[in-house]
Amino acid sequence: MPEVPAVPRGIGLNTAVDAVFAPGGPLSLALDGFEARAAQLEMAAAVADVFADGGVLLAEAGTGTGKTLAYLVPAILSRERVLISTGTKTLQEQIFFKDLPVLRDTLGIPFTAAYMKGRGNYLCLHRFEALRDGPAVHSREDAIAIEAIDEWSRQTETGDRAEMEDLPDDFPLWPDIAATSENCIGAECPRFSDCHVTQMRQRAAESDVVIVNHHLLCADASVRQSAFGEVIPSCRFAIVDEAHQLEDVATQYFGTAVSNYRFDDYARTVTPPTRSATTSTTCVTARGCSSPRSRCCGSRPAPAPFDQARGRPTAGSGSPHPCSNALDPMRPCSSARWRRSRRRSPSRRTSRKT
Ligand SMILES: Nc1ncnc2c1ncn2[C@@H]1O[C@H](COP(=O)(O)OP(=O)(O)OP(=O)(O)O)[C@@H](O)[C@H]1O
Ligand code: SF4
Ligand SMILES: [Mg+2]
Repeated sequence: MPEVPAVPRGIGLNTAVDAVFAPGGPLSLALDGFEARAAQLEMAAAVADVFADGGVLLAEAGTGTGKTLAYLVPAILSRERVLISTGTKTLQEQIFFKDLPVLRDTLGIPFTAAYMKGRGNYLCLHRFEALRDGPAVHSREDAIAIEAIDEWSRQTETGDRAEMEDLPDDFPLWPDIAATSENCIGAECPRFSDCHVTQMRQRAAESDVVIVNHHLLCADASVRQSAFGEVIPSCRFAIVDEAHQLEDVATQYFGTAVSNYRFDDYARTVTPPTRSATTSTTCVTARGCSSPRSRCCGSRPAPAPFDQARGRPTAGSGSPHPCSNALDPMRPCSSARWRRSRRRSPSRRTSRKT
């Protein structure tokens, strides 16, 4: 590890950032193949301005510029709590496991960091124990995987399934043992205090740098609107990396999708009212019919003839509702009377049978 000079204190943020990226500065000593990059320095200075003066910065720079360090250096030097959102889990891990350790050694400033993924990435201790200790009805492959998860679960600090590199992405039992909201029984859980999700929240709440991804950011924002269940702690500053992906993700969480299939699906749920399927007590098959539903024949009136000249049905025309109860609510209509008489007349039924 090279000997790195600490960032001089008591100077402005911009000056401190310049010093970090300067040739012969701390970063050049810590980073293999370091080169002074004008675009990176320009972006770092612009980010530092926002931390110093507030506002919003929209920055775009070519691939490989070193944008990650360009925002991480001023963010950490500012000593503010910062939320960073990335498009991919891979970048989350790169920042947490690669870039931040370099800066921890380089900047001479102590800071804490946490990365947060969606709940589905974490092992639910309660569910897993129930599965492990329950009746063994698993295939041989699943039984081997359960044993491996058991071993890992005893030493993992995060419970993030990404640590289990050999676990297949489509491991069929994972949905049953993931710490999703659907699986979680909340504060009643006997493992609540050592639950990985509880601990992830606590770590994030105590960290200077909180790294999330756009999916979690949007999921959290959508529950924040109802002021319930948010997991991301409040931060004064937010940096959205790979921001070109945010639009698609935000659309998934806040948009409305329309398709032929969904129209079909809605149409299937809207069935015409029937006497047995509705709780309404009056007939709704025709305007003006106030028959008790139990007495209504359920028939629909014939539609009004179409007026070609006006381009609409003829006003006030069309056949009256065939149910006579439209006029006399207490009098069963003829078809209802007929059905009732059939039910009540055993002799008639018998005669029909024979
Ligand atoms: N000044 C520098 N000199 C040498 N290497 C650098 C410098 N700054 C960053 N790097 C390295 O360059 C690589 C790319 O950096 P980074 O991931 O930040 O690029 P980027 O601008 O975000 O690109 P992309 O748009 O592809 O995401 C990293 O490995 C990083 O450590
Ligand atoms: S608190 Fe919820 S997610 Fe955590 S272990 Fe218990 S049931 Fe699982
Ligand atoms: Mg990048």
